[in-house]
Amino acid sequence: MAVKKITDGVYEVGVEHWDRRLFDELIPLPEGTSYNSYLIFGKNRTALIDTVDPEKTHVLLRNLKKLEVKNIDYIIANHAEQDHSGSIPKILEAYSNARVVTNIKAKNLLMDLLHIEEEKFLIVKEGDKLDLGGKTLTFHMTPWVHWPETMSTYLIEDEILFTCDFFGAHIASSRTFSDDSDMVYESAKRYYAEIMMPFRASIKKNLEKVRKINPKMIAPSHGLVYKNPEFIISAYEDWISDSVKNVVVVAYVSMHGSTETMVNHLYNYLVESGVEVKMFNMIEADIGEYAIALVDAATLVEASPMVLGGLHPAVAFTVALTGALRPKVKLIGIMGSYGWGGMMVDQVKSLIRGLKAELLEPLLIKGLPKEEDLLKIEGFAERIVEKHKELGLL
Ligand code: FEO
Repeated sequence: MAVKKITDGVYEVGVEHWDRRLFDELIPLPEGTSYNSYLIFGKNRTALIDTVDPEKTHVLLRNLKKLEVKNIDYIIANHAEQDHSGSIPKILEAYSNARVVTNIKAKNLLMDLLHIEEEKFLIVKEGDKLDLGGKTLTFHMTPWVHWPETMSTYLIEDEILFTCDFFGAHIASSRTFSDDSDMVYESAKRYYAEIMMPFRASIKKNLEKVRKINPKMIAPSHGLVYKNPEFIISAYEDWISDSVKNVVVVAYVSMHGSTETMVNHLYNYLVESGVEVKMFNMIEADIGEYAIALVDAATLVEASPMVLGGLHPAVAFTVALTGALRPKVKLIGIMGSYGWGGMMVDQVKSLIRGLKAELLEPLLIKGLPKEEDLLKIEGFAERIVEKHKELGLL
């Protein structure tokens, strides 16, 4: 809630939302989040880059009052999603001279989402400049991080790139700058896994653009400001690369212990073969932890009991989420236990049809695994081990 100085004439005036625990009614927020909004004082003009979630507009307005801001000329909207744009209508009410500076796609979205009048907008395109007087902004289109209209704004004199969601992290912290610790890395990786992972190809192009701009500071609109951009740029380059690790992610649910016996036997075989295994019981698992594990795992196994003719609903949710997150796993296995039949395998195939991974021959076992079934599980595990050897991971 405090005003934070970034450098002379540049302040962070947004909000830490300490107690928010869910984003988009989907994503867990164990560390809360922040909506960073940046105020830039030029000699002649004042600009505000991104605003805050509408629930916290009053805090943004209070921070602007603290800095005795009498006039805002430009509200730069890097992204139309409401956690950054939702306060724009109230800021326009309080600062009636302000114009909303954004690209044409974002303008159309903002008109639909927030009913902002067309005459309030000033449209910019790639490379356009806005002179505030000793502070010059340029605009760079960075689409699909993570909506089609996303862009970044660069402050030339101070070499700060304002990237909105790109490079963000859901952290509420009283600190302003990243200390590049493991904690910051994990939060940024969680954010990448949950929000950015489906867009690896677009991120690659945008990272090249950021490398060319070569900023001294990266200031996202969630989390901390990076004084050492290399820390977060190189992390992103690793996450989007094609390389995978010697890791199997197992997501499972078990109703009466049969599927659990299967995944435990799989776990033992894989671990004793030198493979790292990350197990997620999807009844209680944090889906953010599951998403992080998928960032660089080579193999994913989805395991379910047959229930009501198909996947357990918690596994169905997990598989649907996985299909949407589009991880770079190379191999996918389906296993489970059934009583009299069902459509589990077809359901999984349908939900992950967009993934490029090889599909192992599914393994379904009737009831509680018998001795001969345990041998089948070992065969299933051995095929995973062979794949990891082929990939040079073992
Ligand atoms: Fe932080 Fe896509 O909004």
